[in-house]
Amino acid sequence: MAEDLTIITGNKTEQYKSLIPQIKGLLEGETDLIANLANITAALKEQFNWLWVGFYLVKKDELVLGPFQGPVACTRIKKGRGVCGTSWEKEETLIVPDVDKFPGHIACNSTSKSEIVVPVIRNNVVVAVLDADSSETDQFDPTDQRYLEEIVNLIPF
Ligand code: SME
Repeated sequence: MAEDLTIITGNKTEQYKSLIPQIKGLLEGETDLIANLANITAALKEQFNWLWVGFYLVKKDELVLGPFQGPVACTRIKKGRGVCGTSWEKEETLIVPDVDKFPGHIACNSTSKSEIVVPVIRNNVVVAVLDADSSETDQFDPTDQRYLEEIVNLIPF
């Protein structure tokens, strides 16, 4: 497996379409969950250069910080708390154009302005969430939702 990622310019759809086959390549033949989550966050960070991107894993009654790229972050989030805990509770992707307008948003980093959280669902149960944060408002849209949902569905949990 080649470890070098090809980073492209272009619109969001073009960027995801270039990245997804490369993520498939990174996951191929690897069954270790942490290794796979780590490489996915690195690939997303390299391509999109978001402020923060990472996974929180469901452990008992809370989300616990998993592999991520970006500044240090909160380690534990309760169900229903913040954008991540709300996405877990509702079992749906949440796009937050302005985090200051999301009641209960957890500010792990004061420079985060917009956010998307995608639940990872296996056998109808949320097992993790993928969280991406941008230092600019209004950075995430249904294109990100579509492709990030596709990416999390590739993960062999
Ligand atoms: N903002 C998130 C917390 C996680 S950090 O952004 C990395 C939330 O409200 O759930």
